[in-house]
Amino acid sequence: MASTDRVRLVVLFGGQSAEHEVSCTTAAHVLAAADTERYEVVPVGITREGTWVRADDALAALARGRASLPDSLEAAGTAVELLPAVTPAADGLPVVVLPLLHGPHGEDGTVQGMLELAGVPYVGSGVLGSALCMDKIKAKEVLALHGLPQVPYVALRDTEVERAGDAVASAGLTFPLFVKPANMGSSVGVSKVGDAGELPEAVALAATYDEWLVVEEGADGREIEVGVLGNADARASVPGEIVSSHEFYDYDDKYVDGTCGLLVPAPLDDAATERVRALALEAYRALRCDGMARVDFFYEEDGRGFLVNEINTIPGFTPVSMYPKLWEASGLAYPALIDELVRLAVERHEHRRRFSTKR
Ligand SMILES: Nc1ncnc2c1ncn2[C@@H]1O[C@H](COP(=O)(O)OP(=O)(O)O)[C@@H](O)[C@H]1O
Ligand SMILES: [Mg+2]
Repeated sequence: MASTDRVRLVVLFGGQSAEHEVSCTTAAHVLAAADTERYEVVPVGITREGTWVRADDALAALARGRASLPDSLEAAGTAVELLPAVTPAADGLPVVVLPLLHGPHGEDGTVQGMLELAGVPYVGSGVLGSALCMDKIKAKEVLALHGLPQVPYVALRDTEVERAGDAVASAGLTFPLFVKPANMGSSVGVSKVGDAGELPEAVALAATYDEWLVVEEGADGREIEVGVLGNADARASVPGEIVSSHEFYDYDDKYVDGTCGLLVPAPLDDAATERVRALALEAYRALRCDGMARVDFFYEEDGRGFLVNEINTIPGFTPVSMYPKLWEASGLAYPALIDELVRLAVERHEHRRRFSTKR
């Protein structure tokens, strides 16, 4: 590497973990060994309380020469403001973040991870729940382990799309099929496939959106959705029903035409209502959801009954969207729903802060 390729190497160490000291010792070794011709080393410590700090003592020692470095660094120094927008300001007002973002880099755990590091309470599921629900394949695998009903499917990588026909045949999937990218939303990249001849095009389309694709059996039934709200004590709303004017509930239906009807509550008998609400709570728990989620089902009345389709950890949230309408019909109006979500965000944050990071 030429000197023009010099790299600023930010060494992160410490952390809110029982392995805090081990990390501080490792960091001292790395600082002592790193070639200062090649690297401008910047040690950034994370204190036991989770504050990010410029490790001033370590920097000073490094400036005096690596022999001055201690055996173990200390995660102490000037605080580094990780995310100024969400850091409580001088007015001392507590901060809660409400992420109203859909899809990758919003609903998939990335923003949630950033907010965890910043130490701010936020509405909705954490990193794992968000990531699991965003990936339709991993969500299905976890739901299957928990015995929740769903349609049969196969998962494929974008590098093996030519195998789609064989995979479908050996899994014994029956047409029509639905082909989807694992990581999108809003019906983007979703196709209904009537026969084997249509499969390559649908698979190729889905592969333009994600590395992983799902090919699943079509359900022949109604679309029922349930809102779930809460942390450990989550509760289920009344169920709602989507009445699509298209071949399936596609992007235009959701956002363009406005012709799609929402029936709230869904016309279901008491037994079916209780069954779908219970399934929604089971799915929510299995997928480590917190705060809120909308659990979507197919309902084959004369067939396989309720089948989980997917879980949205940041459901549509305009006052006329399904999730707020479900809660309104369950006795919680839009402003009260926002209050409850904020309360749940703080509750979860406080609860998780109690856990020990000491050995
Ligand atoms: N297996 C299936 N059987 C019947 N309809 C389906 C199936 N999968 C998807 N659909 C239809 O496509 C729509 C979008 O698929 P979905 O998996 O919910 O993706 P998105 O995350 O984009 O909402 C569903 O609301 C439904 O109308
Ligand atoms: Mg959907």
